[in-house]
Amino acid sequence: MSAHHYELFDPLLPPADADRMVRLCERFGSYGMYSQEASESEIGEGLAQRHDAVMNFITRGGRRGADEPLAALAARTNYFRESYAYGDEILIDGIEPFLRHAGFVAAARAVHGRPVIEPAIVYANILLPGQELAVHTDVPEFRGANRKKFPQWLMVAMHHSGLFDAWRMPIVTGVSWFSACAGGEFVFYPDGAEGPPAVLPAKRNTAILLDTDSVFHGVDRVGVDAELAPLRPGMRLQFDGAARWSVRNGDAIVASYAWDELRFSISWKAYCFADDAERRAWREHTDDLQLDAILDRLVEDLRSRGRITSARPSPTDLALLIIDEYIKFPS
Ligand SMILES: [Fe+2]
Repeated sequence: MSAHHYELFDPLLPPADADRMVRLCERFGSYGMYSQEASESEIGEGLAQRHDAVMNFITRGGRRGADEPLAALAARTNYFRESYAYGDEILIDGIEPFLRHAGFVAAARAVHGRPVIEPAIVYANILLPGQELAVHTDVPEFRGANRKKFPQWLMVAMHHSGLFDAWRMPIVTGVSWFSACAGGEFVFYPDGAEGPPAVLPAKRNTAILLDTDSVFHGVDRVGVDAELAPLRPGMRLQFDGAARWSVRNGDAIVASYAWDELRFSISWKAYCFADDAERRAWREHTDDLQLDAILDRLVEDLRSRGRITSARPSPTDLALLIIDEYIKFPS
């Protein structure tokens, strides 16, 4: 029994439905890059949104320990991503059965022991040969504190600190795979950062559902010794028909691929509420956290841990101290 409950699906869908997800991906047709923007918050100005994961990746060079320039490392993790559904908003026809997948809903109840499951988002991730995802935990959400309002690293540190559990919105993520690429294994730490990693192949029409806000996870490099295309932010991945895809810089073709060279996954995220009253508090903002209260609580805790012994540090120093103290990556 792992410290963190997770469930595996093999197969996830009947074969014809799995084919339909591939056709849906083609029909969507064009995918933008998922870039990391610097934050303009009053705390930690200029730090990357995921300063925690970026620093860990740069320090260790990813799971392979590669020694590469920063721009190459950034391109490796800057994959293609688009949303298929957002709350009740359907962004492409045919995603509805996936959004309401009964197996995911049942597994979601089991992960947090919370009965009221509200699907929040379905999105596609496409990684090219040579790309990978640094080990990280996802950006959690709290009543009054989410990625739209505050820097992502702060949300992550808040969750790892355990100080704000009363405001946390437990979320689950189902990750499913629909292509047949080499490499690109899903790596996760079900026993916590101290435990050994588990490795799942990105096998077509299989899935895992887990609490990715709490369980460290990442994606190993896609392909076999594949050279990464010269990617830059703003490029798009486009379906060209006949099972071919290309990376485009405007109209110019930067690289082209066969379907089975790409790693295509679909993620499903859902809120898990204890009851309707909790869902109402979230919807109606009756019990929201404020930034000052969050930082004061963290500073108080850092003092009790002996990490702050005199005056309160400057906002940027405080940000770096919070990341260092609370986010402990797998070694
Ligand atoms: Fe993730």
